[in-house]
Amino acid sequence: MAKTATLKIDDKEYPLPVMIGTEGEKAVDTRALRAASGYVAYDQGYGNTGSCESQITFLDGDNGILRHRGYPIEQLAHHSDFVETAYLVIYGELPNATQRREFGLQLRKNAAIETQMQKILEGFPTSASPMAMLSAMVSALPAYYPHLATNNFEQDLKGFDLAAAIAMSKIRTIVAMIYRYQKGLPFMFPKQELPFCDNFLHMMFSEPYQDYVSMPEVAKALNLVLLLHADHEQNCSTSTVRMVGSSASNLFTSISAGICALAGPLHGGANVAVMQMLQSIHDEGDDGSRFIAAAKSGSKSNRLMGFGHAVYRNFDPRAKIIGEACDTVLTRLGIDDPLLKIAKHLEQAALKDEYFVARKLYPNVDFYSGIIMRAIGIPMNMFTTMFAIGRAPGYIANWREVAANPKGRIYRPRQIYGGPVKRDYVPMAQRG
Ligand code: CMC
Repeated sequence: MAKTATLKIDDKEYPLPVMIGTEGEKAVDTRALRAASGYVAYDQGYGNTGSCESQITFLDGDNGILRHRGYPIEQLAHHSDFVETAYLVIYGELPNATQRREFGLQLRKNAAIETQMQKILEGFPTSASPMAMLSAMVSALPAYYPHLATNNFEQDLKGFDLAAAIAMSKIRTIVAMIYRYQKGLPFMFPKQELPFCDNFLHMMFSEPYQDYVSMPEVAKALNLVLLLHADHEQNCSTSTVRMVGSSASNLFTSISAGICALAGPLHGGANVAVMQMLQSIHDEGDDGSRFIAAAKSGSKSNRLMGFGHAVYRNFDPRAKIIGEACDTVLTRLGIDDPLLKIAKHLEQAALKDEYFVARKLYPNVDFYSGIIMRAIGIPMNMFTTMFAIGRAPGYIANWREVAANPKGRIYRPRQIYGGPVKRDYVPMAQRG
């Protein structure tokens, strides 16, 4: 028999259906509560609200578990690469050899940016925020692919495979173009023969008559960083993609909105903030205790960046993988980065501090990802755009779930109004 929960308000009881996910996650379905009782469920910031049913990613924050389509992140990080994991996240299964080849081919064929679109980028001041440029460029994509962006779910789903390849591949190309534009360098066209990450490195770092040649470790490290960001359940930017998508907005528009949400320092922007913090500790010859002391003040603007997570309460499994990879990558590349030593020292100091222990605050994925990106040669101001390349598969898969859900409805939360009650208009002359 289906389980129900009962909510009692005054003398009246309201039975509410109970939902159980495939991993045993429990929820009380409050959808009919308002119609039956006049009450809504209040949950500021949606911290305890399941906004959708999803089959993409399972996350158990208490136990540090992250799985995409059932596969543990540790196994994917060890055996897979970014493109294969992206296929898994988007399509639900690991690809066979033919599917993998076809997916790779689509990504290669759709890597280039139209000349007209380049002009949009060139209209920005070179000092503009890379995330602002990226979201603007992605929101321009419907203009170039109107047949894939009709804002009609049925129609847009017919062209989904192509739209997904365009979004994933071009976001990467646009990021490389932003980098070169800001440096005053000519754009590098993508090369059809190169794998996804090598092609990105080529578009970033090749010179007109000198191809970028790197150690295989560089592309491998980049693969790992992107793979670890591929999806992360209902985080701020992915929920934004779903919310915008729920109005029947096309894939590109929805992703562009997600990129805007990602830009904030409490979300994707944290990787930049971490590096700024580590750099300033280095420059001042500090041991980090100043930042730890400031973080304990409780003020949001002084938080220890790269620490804490909205859902992980034990450890962030991605941080564990990336923290270990940092040592390996830097050793293989022969880099001795003083910021890595500072990060490790800061981590140890914070993990022993009662404030962080009591609140279960651990390093998150952003604490170490910046150090790897710096080793690869990515400048700090581009870090959050790298997060966007990595998160693109998650955005695409989540948009598809929204678009393909026949029972879906527009996202429209309620609120508890706390403003003035009804009052009459006061003419200007009578105002104090
Ligand atoms: N430094 C100091 N105190 C913190 C921090 C921190 N980094 N994070 C949380 N706290 C405190 C918070 O003030 C609260 O204290 P109190 O109980 O005394 O009021 C307590 O810890 C619990 O906070 P919370 O409810 O777990 O935090 P939240 O869900 O509101 O915020 C967060 C989650 C990730 C925004 C926050 O931990 C933070 O601002 N971290 C630094 C920014 C960062 O690294 N963000 C990247 C997140 S991972 C990448 C991603 O998925 O976007």
